[in-house]
Amino acid sequence: MEITRTPAEMQETAGRLRRDGFRIGFVPTMGYLHEGHLSLVRASKERTDKTVASIFVNPAQFGPNEDLDRYPRDFERDLDMLASAKCNIVFAPTNDGMYPEGNRTFVEVTGLQDGLCGRTRPGHFRGVATVVTKLFNAVQPHVAFFGQKDAQQAAVIRRLVRDLLIPVDIVVCPIVRESDGLAMSSRNIYLSPSERAQAPVLNRSLLEARAMFDGGEKSAGALAHRIRDILATADLGSVEYIEIVDRDSLEPVTELARPALVALAVYFGKTRLIDNIVLGEKGK
Ligand code: PAF
Repeated sequence: MEITRTPAEMQETAGRLRRDGFRIGFVPTMGYLHEGHLSLVRASKERTDKTVASIFVNPAQFGPNEDLDRYPRDFERDLDMLASAKCNIVFAPTNDGMYPEGNRTFVEVTGLQDGLCGRTRPGHFRGVATVVTKLFNAVQPHVAFFGQKDAQQAAVIRRLVRDLLIPVDIVVCPIVRESDGLAMSSRNIYLSPSERAQAPVLNRSLLEARAMFDGGEKSAGALAHRIRDILATADLGSVEYIEIVDRDSLEPVTELARPALVALAVYFGKTRLIDNIVLGEKGK
């Protein structure tokens, strides 16, 4: 597995791979990898010839009071995991490499960045859209893989490549869960044992919403009400939002007439967990 440290070096490698006719798959990450990330590497390996994974904790997507300094990091472990998954190239740039002195250019996907998580994390999706654009320019992938767990991020990236005519196919892969249903996240490590024991309530509430929807309930208000009741059974949790929105525009819906994203953010102590489910998709 090759390790690339600078955007220029990465661009040179990508150019060589493209000239040699390889299709490049890209898995952007902030490291501290888990099975969810590895599922993206596997998806990339199935569909492309060479897989690049990036490891970069992007300062631009953390607010001033967020966990940038304590965000979990273990570069050697990440490399071992990527090597076992047969990732071909790791791109691990520095802050200076990605944000050279005097950096003044940012990317915004207006509208999509402001609701849901964007409401309490102003600037977060501007940071994500900016770094993903830079990473795409460095890695020059044909296809990029993102997890459905960050559903708003996936919607932002899909719109970004469409609006800016970026020639990268975006593949969004299913949420990978622990055996008790908790969606995998690098931040799960922050949970205390008692918080961890209650955290699967997010998934339970979403499964109940799916059961109600499958039973004919199409009112967003009724589904949200039931979700809130189930979340309330976890006394250590504090709900930030329960939202039912159009999957692509992220606009709130009142009736689930077309595929809708049911998205949650719940605090356990200082740890903010998100989870979601899409209702009304064909074949699900
Ligand atoms: O999903 C993440 O880990 C990050 O938001 C991403 C896409 C790597 C950008 O920093």
